[in-house]
Amino acid sequence: MSERVTSATTVDLSQFQVRDYDPGAGLFVRTAWFLFGLPLLRCSVLPSSLLRRGLLRLFGATIGVGVVIKPGVRVKYPWKLKIGQHCWIGEDAWIDNIAAVSLGDNVCISQGAYLCTGNHNWKDRAFGLIALPISIDDGAWVAARASVAPGVVIGRSAIVGFGAVILRDVPPHEIHTGNPATFVRYREIGTNNEPCSLATASGSF
Ligand SMILES: CC(C)(COP(=O)(O)OP(=O)(O)OC[C@H]1O[C@@H](n2cnc3c(N)ncnc32)[C@H](O)[C@@H]1OP(=O)(O)O)[C@@H](O)C(=O)NCCC(=O)NCCS
Repeated sequence: MSERVTSATTVDLSQFQVRDYDPGAGLFVRTAWFLFGLPLLRCSVLPSSLLRRGLLRLFGATIGVGVVIKPGVRVKYPWKLKIGQHCWIGEDAWIDNIAAVSLGDNVCISQGAYLCTGNHNWKDRAFGLIALPISIDDGAWVAARASVAPGVVIGRSAIVGFGAVILRDVPPHEIHTGNPATFVRYREIGTNNEPCSLATASGSF
C-alpha cells in the first residue's frame, strides 16, 4: 500500500476551491448573518420563538405558522431553510445547510440534532465540495443528538431515534435507531382520544 502513496496521490488542501457552488446570498448578507443574525438567534436573550422566527425570515427563511424555535439553534444559511407549520426545533439543534433543508409540517427536531448537508470528495486531491439537500417530511421526528447525512430524505411520520446516525433514506412510518441506523419497528399513531401507547413516569411504555 505504501508504495502507492506519492505526492500525486496525497490530498492537497491548498488546491481546494469552491467551484460550482452557489451560497445563495451575497457576501454582505452572509457577513451580516454571521456577525449579527446567528449570534442573536443562538442567544437566550430573545424571549420568544416569535423573534427567532422573524430573524430567520428576515434572512430569507420560509417558516410556517406555529413554529417553535428554542435558544441555541444554529442555522448555516437561513435563505436555504424551509420549515412548514407547527414544527419544533429544540435547543442546540444544528441545521448545517450549505444545501437546502426542508421540513414539512409538524416536524420535531430535538435537542442537539445535527442535519449535515456538506460532504467532500475523498477521491479528489483538492477535496472538492459536495452539497446535498435534506428533506424531512410531515410528522417526522429527529430525536435528540441524532445526526442526518447529506442527501437523506426522512419520510412522513418516520422517527430517527435518540443518537441515531442516519446515512440512508428512512421510509414513511419507520423507526430507525443506532449507528449506522437500522429499521427497528413501524410507528403506530393513535387518535387524540385513543393513544396507541402510553409513556409513564416509571419508564415503561
Ligand atoms: C428513548 C428511546 C431510545 C427508547 O427507545 P427503545 O430503546 O427502542 O425503547 P424499547 O426498546 O425499550 O421500547 C419498548 C416499547 O416502548 C415503545 N417506545 C419506546 N420509546 C417510545 C416513545 N418515545 N414513545 C412511544 N413508545 C415508545 C416501543 O415502541 C416498544 O413498544 P413495543 O414493545 O410495543 O414494541 C426512544 O424512545 C427515543 O429515541 N426517544 C427520543 C428521546 C428524545 O430525543 N427526547 C427528546 C425530547 S424533545
